Amino acid sequence: MKKILVTGGFGYIGSHTIIHLLDNGFDLVSIDDLSNAKDSVADNIEAITGKRITNYPVDLKDLEATKDVFRKEGPFAGIIHFAASKHVGESVEKPLKYFRNNLVGLLNVLDCMREFGTENLIFSSSCSVYGNATELPVTEATRRQEAESPYGRTKQMGEDILQDVTKNIPGITTVLLRYFNPAGAHPSGLNGEDPANKASNLVPVITETAIGKRKEMTVFGNDYDTRDGSCIRDYIHVMDLAAAHTLALQYLLEGRNQESCEVFNLGIGEGVTVLEAIQAFEKTTGQKLNYAIGPRRAGDVEAIYANYKKAAERLGWQPHFSIDDIMSSAWKWEQRRTEKASA
Ligand code: WQD
Repeated sequence: MKKILVTGGFGYIGSHTIIHLLDNGFDLVSIDDLSNAKDSVADNIEAITGKRITNYPVDLKDLEATKDVFRKEGPFAGIIHFAASKHVGESVEKPLKYFRNNLVGLLNVLDCMREFGTENLIFSSSCSVYGNATELPVTEATRRQEAESPYGRTKQMGEDILQDVTKNIPGITTVLLRYFNPAGAHPSGLNGEDPANKASNLVPVITETAIGKRKEMTVFGNDYDTRDGSCIRDYIHVMDLAAAHTLALQYLLEGRNQESCEVFNLGIGEGVTVLEAIQAFEKTTGQKLNYAIGPRRAGDVEAIYANYKKAAERLGWQPHFSIDDIMSSAWKWEQRRTEKASA
């Protein structure tokens, strides 16, 4: 049985990917320092899969503690590296935290791969590496623009490190997955986005407003050059994203990769505006949303959505969930997590 290490495994995308990996027969452990995740995620994973996952609450910046996990639980056939700080706004206020956490963490994982003989790495990258893309939909060949934030910069630097490392260090092969806008929750309603700090992404802000945790939400600008003036994004259901990680892992484990470092866009190729997303929520859930139009948010790009042809052809990936599925699953999760919190 090939054993996999998932870093950031109790986070939003990490936990849904663990569920998908377990359902596909993988054996795995998680390293998650729980700085933006809750230990109770283990209960959600067990409720859905019937399996109990071991998480090591280790900070990847602590190389010795990270090596101890490799000594105890290795060898690993592959690593899926989610662990990173991910809030665009926070990264502008605390750039040093983001460069240290996201880059030292990656470098320590690479040191461990070399010392303990792990060859395969899947890296969480982001559409933010494209900045204000000059062509739409973006393909993997679309030139990266200046990052709009230190967060986006750490993803560009992470990609550059891996491109260089795989060229100069034999035996390490990587896949870089550029996520567009992950959203939604596990269809069972038993796991979903449950950030330790205040949500800032659109879909959780919508569901928190609808359930009454926020009086109203703000649409950050309706004066963009788009069909209704609000920004366009490519919302991808978290379970579609999870499935892509399993396929990428199998791609590397079976040696089907064509280069030592390959990049894939993971979006569904549909641009949805903020106002259309709100309309999809209201239509799908029957909930009226209280929102106001406000000023633009610094760092927002006007529009970005993906061409995912490469992932379809090389990984055999296809998205199966729509914006309506995202909204209905997110709402189901919000109701459940609010119920649990008040129990
Ligand atoms: C989406 C749209 C906002 C909240 C970020 C990261 C990106 C990736 C996904 C990790 C924008 C608008 C939002 C609100 C609003 N992360 N909005 N009111 O910024 O596109 O992408 O998350 O990989 O790297 O940058 O996501 O959900 O914050 O915003 O109007 O209260 O919703 O202006 O147009 P974003 P988001």
